Amino acid sequence: MQLLINNAGINRCVSLLGLAGMEASREEMEVNFFGTLAMCRAFAPILEANGGGTIVNVCSIIGLVNLPVNGTYCASKAAGHSLLQGVRAELAPRGIKVVGVYPGPVDTKMTAGQEIPKASPVQVASEILTGLERNVEDIFPDPMSRGVHEQLEKNAKQVEKQFAAMIPD
Ligand SMILES: NC(=O)c1ccc[n+]([C@@H]2O[C@H](COP(=O)([O-])OP(=O)(O)OC[C@H]3O[C@@H](n4cnc5c(N)ncnc54)[C@H](OP(=O)(O)O)[C@@H]3O)[C@@H](O)[C@H]2O)c1
Repeated sequence: MQLLINNAGINRCVSLLGLAGMEASREEMEVNFFGTLAMCRAFAPILEANGGGTIVNVCSIIGLVNLPVNGTYCASKAAGHSLLQGVRAELAPRGIKVVGVYPGPVDTKMTAGQEIPKASPVQVASEILTGLERNVEDIFPDPMSRGVHEQLEKNAKQVEKQFAAMIPD
């Protein structure tokens, strides 16, 4: 085994201060942060014993800027982003590369019923494989995520304000 893809995740679609904010936050942290950490801890020794390899962690573009309507999910994905940076540094000397994936909305069960533009899962999977072939460390696999990432690089505060304007009901 040389490749681990940490893709499992949940999104309760609630805001931090809404009624379900505490419970959702705990559930999302359990899967999106602690689950990913547990997988990295369990499989890193196996990859190392096999001569090195790659861990791909599926984060989210809204792990890099909070979208308040999904506020608890964004916080868990932000924790996931920090997790992958830390694990990347720890595993580099052990011959294991850690790749982050930061998609925008994708047409899966998670976004069912949401009337927003979405990338197809096939397109996202294909972009991830291309990124791996090209040795890219941070993969933005769809036009939306690439656009937001570009804006974040230019003016992160402005993006934060744009996303903050999309406040929950
Ligand atoms: N869809 C989007 O717009 C979008 C955007 C950015 C990032 N992402 C991220 O992409 C990844 C895949 O999400 P998706 O869109 O494919 O969502 P999805 O359709 O809801 O699928 C989530 C997957 O995670 C698994 N999972 C959830 N909780 C788990 C647990 N406790 N233990 C093991 N497996 C668990 C599910 O398994 P079961 O089916 O067995 O429950 C399912 O295979 C997630 O990390 C998500 O945060 C999604």
